[in-house]
Amino acid sequence: MVGFDSSMLTASLSAVSNNSDPIEDVYVSDSMGSEDSICTPDTLSEAGDDDAGMFEDPKLVLVTGGAGFVGSSVADALLARGDDVIIVDEVNDYYDTTIKRSNLASLVSRYGSERCKVYEGDICDVPFITAIFEEHKPEWIVHMAARAGVRPSIQDPFIYVHSNIEGTTRLLELARQHGCKSFAFASSSSVYGGSDKSLFSETDLVDHPVSPYAASKKACELLAHTYHHLYNLNIAALRFFTVYGPRGRPDMAPFKFIDAVARGREMQQFGDGSTSRDYTYITDIVDGVLRALDTPLGYQIYNLGRGEPTRLSRFINLVEANVGRKAIIRVCPEQPGDVPRTCADISKARRLLGYDPKVSFEDGIAATVAWYKATYMQPQQQTDAAATKVAAAAPAASVSANMVM
Ligand SMILES: NC(=O)c1ccc[n+]([C@@H]2O[C@H](COP(=O)([O-])OP(=O)(O)OC[C@H]3O[C@@H](n4cnc5c(N)ncnc54)[C@H](O)[C@@H]3O)[C@@H](O)[C@H]2O)c1
Repeated sequence: MVGFDSSMLTASLSAVSNNSDPIEDVYVSDSMGSEDSICTPDTLSEAGDDDAGMFEDPKLVLVTGGAGFVGSSVADALLARGDDVIIVDEVNDYYDTTIKRSNLASLVSRYGSERCKVYEGDICDVPFITAIFEEHKPEWIVHMAARAGVRPSIQDPFIYVHSNIEGTTRLLELARQHGCKSFAFASSSSVYGGSDKSLFSETDLVDHPVSPYAASKKACELLAHTYHHLYNLNIAALRFFTVYGPRGRPDMAPFKFIDAVARGREMQQFGDGSTSRDYTYITDIVDGVLRALDTPLGYQIYNLGRGEPTRLSRFINLVEANVGRKAIIRVCPEQPGDVPRTCADISKARRLLGYDPKVSFEDGIAATVAWYKATYMQPQQQTDAAATKVAAAAPAASVSANMVM
């Protein structure tokens, strides 16, 4: 079911309008209002060793942004391990909607519309999203929907306030009304702003965002903490560090560079090539998201990165080597809102979730180039040695190499 099935939700909508006092439904624990309810690394035992998963029974998981890059990959992994999924996505045209629709169609065709239900709409549309909660009563939520680009947020901050801040608040509000057990949402490494620390830690002060996008993610973290404090919701704020891989966003550097080099087109290099990013392969990110969802620990912020930054110049060299062609580079000034370097301290996610990123940047780029060639250049058998190596390294959430049809 791709598209908003209004008939299915009619009954729920009338039920919602009768529920005039949602405050009555609030789950209030003894620890309400107490900072003790926030589990800190010091108050917790080692939660994650090998297995993420305090709750191992099949779940019904609401995945917002499930048509997008990370959301569709998370939905795929949840479905593959036996959970059922409800996807909500407005399928906006921030990038080519055929990619997003292909992601949805692929999930539904492989897992069936009974196990993977898709609703197309805005998470800020109150009757729409409320009706979905009334209908399905999801207790497990992976909230990935957001406006995700840094530079476009400078052009139009208002849609970022809408989708990211209002949207997250709406979901938190519904989550607390419906007794959500675990709420994992995408924050971003961009909250660290222009930090010159060698490792970015969750305990760093992050009060100086340098783009509306970063500010919106920081605002989401603050609202999430507030909802934990008031209602004792279990919430994990996941600071992703530059995610790349198969199904990757076409507006992001990994896809753009591979695409430009493969087609022999000029590519823009912002800055002198000395900037660096902690690129994180999609299967490692998906593994971290599932571990966070499965391990509700009060309010937690986790860095999900790799902890090994790669310089832009090295990145381009790797793309050239894997594509088998030299890049045509136009050097441009660094862009406002961009940060010079990111590098995640992932010790907290390692300790509490058992998060352990497995895919090296070299293997990840090789696999991404293999996926790109298979998807966009020519049909070919998936026998590429690099792709095979990566799939073997990350069995928890392998992604199909031919997702965009
Ligand atoms: N990809 C990265 O490197 C990266 C890094 C840090 C954080 N993040 C965060 O991870 C999440 C997923 O990112 P992604 O790369 O998959 O982006 P994406 O753009 O591919 O996916 C986001 C999805 O959310 C949907 N969406 C946006 N606003 C919505 C709304 N109001 N209602 C319903 N759906 C809406 C979009 O249509 C899109 O399909 C985002 O929250 C993003 O900010 C991503």
